[in-house]
Amino acid sequence: MTSSELKTKFFDYFQARGHKIIDSASLLPENDPSVLFITAGMQPLVPYLMGEKHPEGTRLANVQKCLRTDDIDEVGDTTHHTFFEMLGNWSLGDYFKQEVIEYSTEFLLGILKLDKEKIGISIFGGNDDVKEADLESEKHWLDQSFAKERIQHVKENWWGPAGETGPCGPDTEMFYWVGPDKAPKVFDENNPGWVEIWNDVLMQYNKTADGKYDLLKQKNVDTGMGLERTLAVLNGLDDNYRTELFWPIIESIEKLSGLKYGDKSDAEHLKEDGQCWVDTRKAFRIIADHIRTAVFVLGDHKGVTPSNKDQGYILRRIIRRSIRFGKQVGIKDNFASKLAQVVIPIYQDDYPELKHNSSLIISELKKEEIKFDETLEKGLQLFDKLVKQNKLDEKATFILFTTYGFPIEMTLEMASEKGIKLDEQKIDTELKQHQDLSRTASAGMFKGGLADDSENTKRHHTAAHLLLEALRITLGDHVQQKGSNINEDRIRFDFSHDEKMTDEQKQKVEDIVNEQINKAMPIHFEEMTVDQAKKIGATGVFEHKYGDKVKVYFMGDFSKEICGGPHVDNTSQLGQFKIKKEQSSSAGVRRIKATLT
Ligand code: ALA
Repeated sequence: MTSSELKTKFFDYFQARGHKIIDSASLLPENDPSVLFITAGMQPLVPYLMGEKHPEGTRLANVQKCLRTDDIDEVGDTTHHTFFEMLGNWSLGDYFKQEVIEYSTEFLLGILKLDKEKIGISIFGGNDDVKEADLESEKHWLDQSFAKERIQHVKENWWGPAGETGPCGPDTEMFYWVGPDKAPKVFDENNPGWVEIWNDVLMQYNKTADGKYDLLKQKNVDTGMGLERTLAVLNGLDDNYRTELFWPIIESIEKLSGLKYGDKSDAEHLKEDGQCWVDTRKAFRIIADHIRTAVFVLGDHKGVTPSNKDQGYILRRIIRRSIRFGKQVGIKDNFASKLAQVVIPIYQDDYPELKHNSSLIISELKKEEIKFDETLEKGLQLFDKLVKQNKLDEKATFILFTTYGFPIEMTLEMASEKGIKLDEQKIDTELKQHQDLSRTASAGMFKGGLADDSENTKRHHTAAHLLLEALRITLGDHVQQKGSNINEDRIRFDFSHDEKMTDEQKQKVEDIVNEQINKAMPIHFEEMTVDQAKKIGATGVFEHKYGDKVKVYFMGDFSKEICGGPHVDNTSQLGQFKIKKEQSSSAGVRRIKATLT
């Protein structure tokens, strides 16, 4: 089965059961200060899981682009990826445990024709916060004639919240046996022969800032099926990198390196030559995975370029790590942009933004590789010298970052390969003194929580609409929102504009926003198709397909913008708007930091 056949089967199945198919949201979260990237399909839907009405109804399905760096150390095995696609179906206060388990069973067995004898299931076994095991889900699985020995109670079966606060709940996971021989009679998720393919989350709680689990207004279902893993399983493959989504990339790496990824016989043969087959395979997987991720980040609607901050830092880290592994397997020439040209055609039908942004993807990869090439050799020499002299400490690392551009995590990984353990905290302390750097994983990024719908965040979010319109009036219609990061304390707003704003322009923007606040304009939304939204001149990211419904928020007749919320009801609730800082964000993009007092 191909990836597009699997997607079509999923969409057809859920569409026939009343689900509206929605587009993947951008990989870069909008108005969400708690995470750098979308890590699960539920994230862009948090307001709707919390009870806001979704314009497409209460049953949705999609395939969402996701990026997780938590598991980056696992990448190199057969199933882990930094970027991946997640198929999901949602019930927003509609169906719950019984129906989702019926749907999952019917889709896996009836539609995908997977072998029931190879399926294992885990359910929530109770933990310190929520004591009761999810026996109700267990009963529904038993009703679907799954054997009791194939259902395991696991106390970790809890999903979310994605940030510190927000929707979460027990989950029930489906595994498929890919190990040798027959699937064991008793399911145990710790046996590596079982691969998790689908997760049904029964979202009925909201984790609050004080760590409590309150019941949500409605009971939701959030499911996530890993596309790559399921595709591998359906094709009888025990390695995701052998699926059509990765194999052309692996073949290109073989050509570039002159080495074989190694089927079993090659592996045995190379093993005699000194164990290198395992490393070669791991390195190929890391390169393929990371370049694919870089292509999706660079090619996203809201595109990010490599830098030392936030998402740009993650992107840089991923590209540079793949370059290091490329060197390790003997690739002499620059290769990142060459591999990107293999990745783009695999995905461009499903994600046209990749084709649209292909020249940017290629030129940014070329630039980053050339830049890193200038310092990589010298940095590696220094690293080897320090290791030999037993002088690789946190300070020396610091130098590897600032002078030679080695991402911190890369140096930690290289040190650990040599059996040296460096203290990340100490390196961070060194780095904090280096003013230019705000490293992504710094705790501040995770404050606030995903579903932060505090009054202040709502006020800041509402003011961001006024700010966009004021910028367009002051600087011109070319101004478009390029991203935002809004929390309880401030608005951070990126927009397209080439030049530094003058003091007069900043003053004018402030005056316009404050004037609109003083007008005490009511705020309301209307649901309409993307086409209608375009017709009435609404601003916003038009990343949805024709025909999809969106919410357009109106602030008097001043601002019309496509947005998901949350907002206050009247601009008079905003207070005094003040621009604190205006600076460059990336090429052609400026950034404003502003507050309300
Ligand atoms: N949100 C769930 C997951 O990511 C479905 O696994």
